[in-house]
Amino acid sequence: MKIKNLNLENFRNYSQVNVDFFDGVNIIQGKNAQGKTNLLEAIFFCSIGKSLRVGREKEIIKFNENNAKINIKIEKKYKKSQILIYFSKNNKKSIKIDNISIKKIGELLGEFNAIYFSPDELKLIKESPEDRRRFIDIHISQISKQYFYLLNRYEKILANRNKLLKNNTDTKILKETIEIWNTQLIDIGSKIILYRIDFINKLLPYAKKSHSYLTSNDEILDLEYSGIKGKDLLDIKTKLQKELSNSLNKDIKLGFTNIGPHRDDIKIFVNKIDIKTFGSQGQQRTVALSLKLAELEIMKEETGEMPILLLDDVLSELDKSRKEKLLKFCSKTQTFITGTEFEFNPNYHYFTINNGNIKK
Ligand SMILES: Nc1ncnc2c1ncn2[C@@H]1O[C@H](COP(=O)(O)OP(=O)(O)OP(=O)(O)O)[C@@H](O)[C@H]1O
Ligand SMILES: [Mg+2]
Repeated sequence: MKIKNLNLENFRNYSQVNVDFFDGVNIIQGKNAQGKTNLLEAIFFCSIGKSLRVGREKEIIKFNENNAKINIKIEKKYKKSQILIYFSKNNKKSIKIDNISIKKIGELLGEFNAIYFSPDELKLIKESPEDRRRFIDIHISQISKQYFYLLNRYEKILANRNKLLKNNTDTKILKETIEIWNTQLIDIGSKIILYRIDFINKLLPYAKKSHSYLTSNDEILDLEYSGIKGKDLLDIKTKLQKELSNSLNKDIKLGFTNIGPHRDDIKIFVNKIDIKTFGSQGQQRTVALSLKLAELEIMKEETGEMPILLLDDVLSELDKSRKEKLLKFCSKTQTFITGTEFEFNPNYHYFTINNGNIKK
């Protein structure tokens, strides 16, 4: 999969941009605050139908303008297509694929796959279990609508169970009425857990491979689903049921549900050491990269197409050898790398951004 052309109108600090990109590595260089991240943001928008930055969508429209446009032309193995996204100040957003408007974001997913990586992605390693759950949930949802549906169902069941626990006035009655939510929570929750365990099992060999590649075999990566585990659905169900029942008194005391996939985490080890607590900055960055590169390989396996890779400002904290390895990996697919300074390499294509203008 690759982008042939990008056209922007009034997108952040770009008034008007029309640029053709190359296969292989596209280097986007420029001083701070010139529009490098904005450019990757525009590209990634076409992949997931929303911004990777938090904030309101209309902030994307260039100051003092009323509407913005992103238009990309992509080429896949067997087909070419065009994605057009249009925003206006009165909160209107429309997405067209090959000039046909889509009704739901779901219709866009899978049309153009990209993987985005920025220094922020360190959250995946460093921060709360919620960030790691989000990583797996987003990935599995992209490839399974069934999973997306299970997650939504689970959230509703959990909210109901928690409401009951919070408003408890009579523990005897509560213990009877909570059964109805328990049955559903166990049923849906165990399916979610199974999906996640399967995903980690699939991700692990790829992540191990990219990590030992990036670190020249110095480091061995390991991942472990931490929470309820089991060998099959029935096993997970039985364990979830048991733990949920063991936790009931604690749940009543605290007023919320303490057990279930919404509390689970992924443990990440490098050379058997917990990387969240003991990893160095560069080590954590490398792990986050290894996970993303593994995601790329899985997407390729599942869709038959290599997604494009967007690397925003990630080279600065890697040592020379890790940097070289990463760049070598990038030649496998169309890649966009931003940064303030690069050494010249005749195999790459260079673009310079200056105050919302792009020059080859
Ligand atoms: N809606 C908007 N209209 C006009 N300019 C905007 C808008 N939103 C953001 N900008 C500006 O875009 C500029 C470039 O932002 P961007 O994050 O792309 O910079 P960058 O080149 O990635 O810089 P750095 O090297 O610091 O990461 C910022 O100065 C910001 O003020
Ligand atoms: Mg930036």
